[in-house]
Amino acid sequence: MPRKILVTSALPYANGAIHLGHLVEYIQTDIWVRFQKMSGNECWYVCADDTHGTPIMLRAEKEGITPEQLIERVHGEHFRDFSGFLVGFDNYHSTHSPENRECANTIYTRLRDAGLIEVRTIEQYYDPVKQLFLPDRFIKGECPKCHAKDQYGDNCEVCGAAYAPTDLIEPFSAISGAKPELRNSEHYFFKLSDPRCEAFLREYTSSGVLQNEAANKMQEWLGLPGDSKLTDWDISRDAPYFGFEIPDAPGKYFYVWLDAPIGYMGSFKNLCARQGLDFDEYFKPGSQTELYHFIGKDILYFHALFWPAELQHAGFRTPTKIFAHGFLTVDGAKMSKSRGTFITAESFLKTGLNPEWLRYYFAAKLSNTMEDIDLNFEDFVARVNSDLVGKYVNIASRSAGFIAKRFAGQLAPAAAELPAIQAIQAAAPRIAELYEAREFGKAVREIMALTDGANQYVDSVKPWELAKQEGKEVELHAACSNALNLFRLLTILLKPILPAVAGKVEQFMNIAPLAWADAQTLLAGGHAINTYEHLMTRVDPKLIEKLVDANKESLAPAIEAPKQAESPQRHAQHQQNELKTASPWEPFCSIDDFMKVDLRIARIANAEHVDGADKLVRLTLDIGNHETRNVFAGIKAAYDPAQLIGRLTVMVANLAPRKMKFGLSEGMVLAASDTAGQTPGIFLLSPDSGAQPGMRVK
Ligand code: MSP
Ligand code: ZN
Repeated sequence: MPRKILVTSALPYANGAIHLGHLVEYIQTDIWVRFQKMSGNECWYVCADDTHGTPIMLRAEKEGITPEQLIERVHGEHFRDFSGFLVGFDNYHSTHSPENRECANTIYTRLRDAGLIEVRTIEQYYDPVKQLFLPDRFIKGECPKCHAKDQYGDNCEVCGAAYAPTDLIEPFSAISGAKPELRNSEHYFFKLSDPRCEAFLREYTSSGVLQNEAANKMQEWLGLPGDSKLTDWDISRDAPYFGFEIPDAPGKYFYVWLDAPIGYMGSFKNLCARQGLDFDEYFKPGSQTELYHFIGKDILYFHALFWPAELQHAGFRTPTKIFAHGFLTVDGAKMSKSRGTFITAESFLKTGLNPEWLRYYFAAKLSNTMEDIDLNFEDFVARVNSDLVGKYVNIASRSAGFIAKRFAGQLAPAAAELPAIQAIQAAAPRIAELYEAREFGKAVREIMALTDGANQYVDSVKPWELAKQEGKEVELHAACSNALNLFRLLTILLKPILPAVAGKVEQFMNIAPLAWADAQTLLAGGHAINTYEHLMTRVDPKLIEKLVDANKESLAPAIEAPKQAESPQRHAQHQQNELKTASPWEPFCSIDDFMKVDLRIARIANAEHVDGADKLVRLTLDIGNHETRNVFAGIKAAYDPAQLIGRLTVMVANLAPRKMKFGLSEGMVLAASDTAGQTPGIFLLSPDSGAQPGMRVK
């Protein structure tokens, strides 16, 4: 029986461009969804723009347009960017939709009728000039703890303290600069502290719907039984606000985070109407269908606590699983506008980079944990060029031409017993399990090992040599037909990651869209293929330079409204600074981390070429105390070994020894290089004169 599955990615805010960080999530989800569809399951993938709230209202005002105009334009931009990266939503809707309003009203009314909504008067800062209540992040002032100036109303970026806006010293409105006044206002609260919610959440969050790491975090947030840390959640905002007015409370609006997750339902409801699907089948309590939310770790609190509690107590099913992922860093650091690593999806495509390069790279790095993932440009270029172009595409480009030229495009029967073919067919179920478990990195590694096996077959039969010999027609035909069968099988395994390439392969091989089960079949003898067209080009490292340049902003910090009006962290009453800090140098390394690296002065006692290595030089390093180390350094392009002998440099003395093809490497020497390539080269470090081998560097 095919499974019935509904999948979502988080709804991106409608006041900013899609960037590569976002794409980690949408590509991850898309790969999973494509795998489900290829496996014959009924799987629907919905998303939407998250359109409500103060920042969007103010942004529209600044641009001199209505919020409706702003969100419509951004919807087009977001949809264009996602399509560009082959993210195949079944519906990309908006939270500012009639379906979403209806779902939000239903949930609110049912929670109210269940006695889970409470009205309370709260005191809040008001901007007398702009005439609105100020969200936390639009109030600034001096940190009450460390006295840093110009800190947000919810926490301090300098010392990390969390506090209420009323604790700030000399507060001012970040919109008008005015001194805010405290005013009373009635707010609507969802009673998360109600024993029913607490009991449900304790049971739900420990029932296996979350990754272990996330479940542990939830236990922390919930507090111990009998000492619950759950507090009621303020779900209303006063006019003026861009959002949905609360049905029985004129002038009060749903807080954006109330109707945002409901946007998943709204988007699906809209799809149901178009596709003739039964909405209730997916959302009724006890539903046999599956519901999965892919999200970033920064919004866990909303998805693992508020959202399931709302669903449960409003009489809907709860999510089957919540899959949280980590954050993207670029070349080891937080994305930064000044360094050009805050890369927009649009610029990536406009610069001429192929979206499937990124899909493959992310896939190779993704796992089912909440660990951050790093986009390292050197590694990106190397991996795409060697795996996709050098290994995978190479199989087809070395064999398809002969089939066309010599055999009128017709294949010979495949050798089903060929070990390389059998290996792929045997591995397919295991790789399916890895996709299902979101272990894409492991899947990619297995697929590349199988690709190596296929290449070894081609290398062993050498079609290019058979083609030159007379009377080897049969062998040549068999070799190329087997190679193309291997290529077809590998394409099936890669299709969730590379849907466009797979489409081109289906076209040139003249076959129906590949499904997962096709991995157990082979092409019949006599099958006619179409002409082979080049499938993928190599990444030119110059494109990366262009991309970084295109995203570089001047060093002057842009004065911009915060993306979110209130940080989820305050609701969580927890410190998680990832999203808020402005330093491009994060994550910081502590002095203790740094001291773990034992750097020593070394004298290069000997340096020589390494046979068969085009980048390496073998160094014998004297590090004092009659101790020498053998180190391979990738500096051949920049240094002649003879000139290195006798020089002092700096080495990492406590690096774990590594076995390389050419011998054991017992450390690493330090050199500067310009990866973006403006001043290409490698520059070995030297200490000032007087330093002696063995001295510690710190
Ligand atoms: N609008 C909310 C989500 C509402 S869901 C009902 C929001 N939007 S967002 O645009 O800030 O982020 C959308 C998704 O992208 C989130 O899951 C977020 O974690 C993810 N990412 C945003 N920046 C990211 C990185 N740098 N790295 C990885 N994922 C990131 O949050
Ligand atoms: Zn502080």
